[in-house]
Amino acid sequence: MRLPESRVAVLEAASANEEQTIEEIAEKAGLKPETATGAVFELEDEGLLIVEERTDESVSLTEEGEEYAEGNLPEIRLYEAALDAGADEEPTQMGKAIGQSGLGGSQVNIALSNYARKGYGSIESGEITAAPDADPEFDAEASALSALAAGESVDDTDTLDQLESRGLIERAESTVRSVTLTEAGVTAMMEGVETAETVGQLTPEMLTTGQWRDVEFAEYNVAADAERIDGGKVHILRQTANRVKDVLVGMGFEEMDGPHADADFWINDCLFMPQDHPARTHWDRFALSNPTEIRDLPDDLVERVRRAHLEGIGVDSDGYHSPWDEEFARAIALRGHTTSLSMRYLSGHAVGELEPPKRFFSVEKVYRNDTLDPTHLLEFFQIEGWVMADDLSVRDLMGTFEEFYEQFGITDIQFKPHYNPYTEPSFELFGNHPETGELIEIGNSGMFRPEVLEPLGVDCDVMAWGLALERLLMLMYGFEDIRDVHGTLCDLELLRDVEVIH
Ligand code: PHE
Repeated sequence: MRLPESRVAVLEAASANEEQTIEEIAEKAGLKPETATGAVFELEDEGLLIVEERTDESVSLTEEGEEYAEGNLPEIRLYEAALDAGADEEPTQMGKAIGQSGLGGSQVNIALSNYARKGYGSIESGEITAAPDADPEFDAEASALSALAAGESVDDTDTLDQLESRGLIERAESTVRSVTLTEAGVTAMMEGVETAETVGQLTPEMLTTGQWRDVEFAEYNVAADAERIDGGKVHILRQTANRVKDVLVGMGFEEMDGPHADADFWINDCLFMPQDHPARTHWDRFALSNPTEIRDLPDDLVERVRRAHLEGIGVDSDGYHSPWDEEFARAIALRGHTTSLSMRYLSGHAVGELEPPKRFFSVEKVYRNDTLDPTHLLEFFQIEGWVMADDLSVRDLMGTFEEFYEQFGITDIQFKPHYNPYTEPSFELFGNHPETGELIEIGNSGMFRPEVLEPLGVDCDVMAWGLALERLLMLMYGFEDIRDVHGTLCDLELLRDVEVIH
């Protein structure tokens, strides 16, 4: 029989009556473990080897476990101190026993929470007793710790469970494969196995010289286990942002961009947000300390916005009748929404005067001083958009969302009437979470009010929205916590395994 070199080496290293692990075989055969593994599977396929798999558990001590293996478990130290203090005769002040034990910090709590559980005595109203017949020599957890520290194995699973839940050991599972020769393998060896020169890779030289005709090629075993290699890939949040951009461009929208840190004028005042609105207080915004303000606001627009705030627009409208301070409007903060960009564009400030019909969007970061929880971060991506045209209605707005979300497989969005100081009517959007079935808020929208549009110099209708990219992602992929995809707690498996959709 002729076999490639590595297979011959493995056959020679294997034995018919002694199981050996692949690592042992590799070492004997002088092969790299992955080469030996490949050869072993080939030989198994050919019926020359039997491969047996079992799962091995390895147990290692954590740093804290090692500390207790060297010294002693805190509850044993407490027991010994309690004995010294005479707590086996009569209840003793707990402070005294703890003082004598020399335990400090979190170890006191550890000692107290394990003391009674393990029968060392009782702890009641500040007094401790020591059970006279308890014997730390027979403490299963302590013996297991010292056995593990000495490199011995421990079979008592209850004790191991306990040590694991106390964070004193770590358990890891690994698959061990062991190999023996089959009868066919033995026969082959007895009849003699020769090394065949095989070629693993076709080279340009072999092709040009025609040598490829004479060589024997190594066969690939595509079913063999291989080492997992995780390539880099675009984060799903970025992937989805790019898809959203493609979809919106496909729907006829152009992209806006602009500053992350902007004057309150663009973030709030243009939006008819009263200067004493609760969202404009310092604890809700991230202010900048350098620079603190923008000097070059367009004077005529500032004046029109100021008038709208004071007096309102037209006969049916009323202003806020509260002071409007230009200095306050100049202050810089991180934008809490990208509607600041919509204001810069609609006013003509960004790319000049716009003639209807026009559609614009952005998919950009916004910053909010929220409390962190599974659905809120201090920053997220907002899908901002607006359509400027004559005679728009709420039906156009709803239809646009239906068309947009349908591209992501979401066909059951719901609308709820809402209030924004800058839109009337306003709607919040909701979608069904695919895992929990809960309705989650995915965006906010409406038709801009005359108090917003007229100062900007826009004399047709504008429907607009801000949608949360992360919430869209939750509906698409079904994860429940934004922190699964963002930041240090993120779920790497989810990020690696999630399908790439383009
Ligand atoms: N700015 C709003 C938000 O952040 C979204 C929105 C934009 C609503 C435009 C209406 C019009 O929630």
